Amino acid sequence: MRLVILGGNGQLGSDLAEVLRSARESVVSLSRSELDITQSSVLLEKLSHHHPDVILNCSVYHPVDECENDPERSFAVNATAVRALALAAKDLQAAVVHFSSDYVFDGELGRPYKEEDTPTPVSVFGVSKVAGEQLLRAVLPRHFIVRTSGLYGLAGSRVKRGNFVETMLRLGRQNGQVRVVNDIRMAQTSTRNLARQVLALIHTKHYGTYHASDHGDYSWFEFAKKIYQYSALEVEVTPVSWREMPFVAPRPRYSVLENCRLKALGMDQMQPIDVALQAYLKSKDVVPAMQGSSLSKAADSRAL
Ligand SMILES: NC(=O)c1ccc[n+]([C@@H]2O[C@H](COP(=O)([O-])OP(=O)(O)OC[C@H]3O[C@@H](n4cnc5c(N)ncnc54)[C@H](OP(=O)(O)O)[C@@H]3O)[C@@H](O)[C@H]2O)c1
Repeated sequence: MRLVILGGNGQLGSDLAEVLRSARESVVSLSRSELDITQSSVLLEKLSHHHPDVILNCSVYHPVDECENDPERSFAVNATAVRALALAAKDLQAAVVHFSSDYVFDGELGRPYKEEDTPTPVSVFGVSKVAGEQLLRAVLPRHFIVRTSGLYGLAGSRVKRGNFVETMLRLGRQNGQVRVVNDIRMAQTSTRNLARQVLALIHTKHYGTYHASDHGDYSWFEFAKKIYQYSALEVEVTPVSWREMPFVAPRPRYSVLENCRLKALGMDQMQPIDVALQAYLKSKDVVPAMQGSSLSKAADSRAL
């Protein structure tokens, strides 16, 4: 199978390339400088050079507050370009894997979101992601739309300049104390796990919309506590409300995604958040010899 990744320099794109190559797939990974998906006039021609069977679109414009002030750019990358990509894929008889977000929901449902729940976005970013999903569905039946949440990966988000785990480690080491939002809750998800899940998915013909997040849910405050617990860092973590943050765009407060469709197919390979976080910290050498049951008592005592 010939696979082409777009937005290949991002945190998900990087892990996807590695996981797919490790599985001996034929992978071409293109960065924005190699293929800008908003350049619709060259999209078909540039993609056709690689004869893709599946195109995996990891490109996104997602600094949520900037999106609120720049709807044109949000829609250009997250929606209009997705339609152009779908049209090109149709010409090339390729399938598309497109990633979407928990931000397509308003977070007011009070239970985890299922794939069939109606999108209710509350920000420009969220609306642009819903539009991207709809445009892909309208053009190309052979699609996988994979919604996920709270991604962190080894490469760090390119667009957001880092990831939450790295930010917490840096601030914790620098200051010994952090203030973290405790009333926004989701399933924080490892890009490595998501990449493995996508590898399984693309070998099926079960096209459609999926939720794929790691299992469980934490507020950002709770997740920060876990990061310090597993990295044995003494950091004072103070819970704060999102109302104290200088957010421009509204955020969903409870946007946990349930992997209903993957579960129904017997294909849910995502992991508990704690397991995934410890694996990430270990791969970054942050957790020296301190996994699972061998966690030190000092670290245990700082558990939530
Ligand atoms: N991060 C999260 O917490 C999160 C949560 C839910 C869903 N998701 C979804 O997961 C997917 C991947 O996110 P991520 O965290 O891996 O993002 P990321 O690390 O910020 O990477 C995004 C990539 O998109 C590229 N890009 C931006 N504009 C482009 C364009 N016009 N043409 C081609 N490439 C372009 C960027 O290029 P440069 O490297 O040149 O900047 C960057 O490499 C997205 O669909 C996102 O909505 C992410």
